[in-house]
Amino acid sequence: MAVQTSKSCLLLCIILVSIALLILSSQFLSITISQKNFSTTRKQRGAVKNDSTFWEEKGNVTLPPALFNTTYTAKIAESTKTNLVTKLKVDQIKTSMPLNEGEAETAMPVLYKKSFSRSPQWDFEDVYNLDSSPRPMTCAQSLRNSKDESFRKAFLPNIRLYLHKDNINMSEWNRLSHFNNPFGFMEYTYDDVMASVKLIPKPEEPLLLPKPGSGGCVRCAVVGTAGILNGSRMGKEIDSHDYVFRMNGAVINGYEEDVGNKTSVYVHTAHSITSSLYFFKKYGYKSVPNDEGIKYVLIPEGMRDFNWLKGLLRGERISSGAYLNQRPRTYYAGQYNETRFYVLHQDFLRYVKNRFLKSEYLKSSHWAIVRPTNGAFTVFLALHTCDTVTAYGFMTEDYKKYSNYYFERNLKTNVVFYANHDYILEMKTWKKLHDSKILKLYQRTISNAEKETPKPH
Ligand SMILES: *[C@@H]1O[C@H](CO)[C@@H](O)[C@H](O)[C@H]1NC(C)=O
Ligand SMILES: *[C@@H]1O[C@H](CO)[C@@H](O)[C@H](O)[C@H]1NC(C)=O
Ligand SMILES: *[C@@H]1O[C@H](CO)[C@@H](O)[C@H](O)[C@H]1NC(C)=O
Ligand SMILES: *[C@@H]1O[C@H](CO)[C@@H](O)[C@H](O)[C@H]1NC(C)=O
Ligand SMILES: *[C@@H]1O[C@H](CO)[C@@H](O)[C@H](O)[C@H]1NC(C)=O
Ligand SMILES: *[C@@H]1O[C@H](CO)[C@@H](O)[C@H](O)[C@H]1NC(C)=O
Ligand SMILES: *[C@@H]1O[C@H](CO)[C@@H](O)[C@H](O)[C@H]1NC(C)=O
Ligand SMILES: *[C@@H]1O[C@H](CO)[C@@H](O)[C@H](O)[C@H]1NC(C)=O
Repeated sequence: MAVQTSKSCLLLCIILVSIALLILSSQFLSITISQKNFSTTRKQRGAVKNDSTFWEEKGNVTLPPALFNTTYTAKIAESTKTNLVTKLKVDQIKTSMPLNEGEAETAMPVLYKKSFSRSPQWDFEDVYNLDSSPRPMTCAQSLRNSKDESFRKAFLPNIRLYLHKDNINMSEWNRLSHFNNPFGFMEYTYDDVMASVKLIPKPEEPLLLPKPGSGGCVRCAVVGTAGILNGSRMGKEIDSHDYVFRMNGAVINGYEEDVGNKTSVYVHTAHSITSSLYFFKKYGYKSVPNDEGIKYVLIPEGMRDFNWLKGLLRGERISSGAYLNQRPRTYYAGQYNETRFYVLHQDFLRYVKNRFLKSEYLKSSHWAIVRPTNGAFTVFLALHTCDTVTAYGFMTEDYKKYSNYYFERNLKTNVVFYANHDYILEMKTWKKLHDSKILKLYQRTISNAEKETPKPH
């Protein structure tokens, strides 16, 4: 017994140390990436020119459809008009997609991030796969009935949400190889990625269905980790929703009064599921939420996630890369089941970025690491799978009043701004969606705080 305990402690320690090293090395990696010289435009044109044999180049620039109206997106839309990168007409891409009978198609040459001084703008940047039938409209109050003009223009109710073995082929591979991760497969080789993708089963059912007695509506809460939830007493309200989404370090034990205890959908990356255990252990975080029948959704943000998937889907140890020898299935607290596991599609992730969260940072030298937060992807997943969405624990204008995380309740910390995310843009987007009545954002304005039981301060 004692031997077993010390053995497992030793193992745990080794795992923790390797996680720590990984975290350190990934931080070094981002620093190195952002300091590289990306200002070579020659290579950029070369890549496009070579590529144009596949993506036939012709005629006028097709501007993307109207973007969700924020200051940032408007500015970026303007800048794409002057982008030097060759453009291609949308209808020409469509005709180039199906293969002619007997025509062998091969993977295009690998494109490298370092060839681009800013996020490249392909003419098919804003073209996405759609799935045939969105869930039937059974809910009168659905956000899908929003009258907001800019939202209606940007929102694609049947955007393809999930990647699986049956919706990828060589044309798709080549199209998606133009976009950096997590929006596509730039810099990856076909064999490396496809070895994993070919294992992903086609999801058998939609993520969520209306519950009996809900008037045909799917009513969801999305619970972020922001400090605003500390002392909020929103737990009961959160749990009263049909479905509750959480992500990353979803610490629940001991915080139920503020954040609830129910989780229907848990969104993660290989990095977040492994590192949260290490980072948030001191707040009592022992495992991912594991409610009976919970659905797990993976954001494939990089090669390490495809390695993770391979190990997970085969029920084996990981055979290469960052999590070498780890057993992904052991991270899901006994609730892993292939039939309840979903992998987000690159088109969905890119659509969220392009139409709702197009950061100015995408024009900077560190463009290749810039992407929406896992929390942001989770909100948009909810907006595409639910009829009503309330977002709790997301950044608000008064964020400086609260800790970074709700579980940092004994010591006031500050919100950390990592260079790979545009937190201010996300904050403004939540407010805008709230003001447009597309979702409800939990905010603690002065007047709300006054309505609560007075606390001695
Ligand atoms: C970056 O690359 C450009 C073009 O090759 C070169 O002129 C410039 O000196 C380089 N800058 C740095 C800091 O290496
Ligand atoms: C473009 O193609 C030419 C010849 O096929 C090759 O020599 C060159 O390296 C390619 N350039 C890039 C950036 O892939
Ligand atoms: C581009 O669009 C303009 C205005 O619609 C049109 O006059 C012109 O002929 C087009 N050029 C080509 C090459 O299609
Ligand atoms: C976008 O919003 C700004 C300010 O809210 C407004 O002035 C502008 O007319 C809007 N543009 C569109 C295209 O809706
Ligand atoms: C490849 O996949 C795309 C997207 O799912 C589809 O539209 C296209 O028809 C497929 N092409 C072939 C040759 O199967
Ligand atoms: C959450 O708390 C309620 C009330 O205390 C309890 O009935 C329920 O079983 C809990 N659910 C989970 C998933 O722990
Ligand atoms: C996974 O879920 C399916 C469908 O609910 C069920 O039939 C199967 O037994 C489950 N597998 C495991 C290993 O629990
Ligand atoms: C968290 O909330 C509690 C109860 O409202 C409060 O006493 C405490 O100061 C808060 N912690 C922080 C860091 O704001």
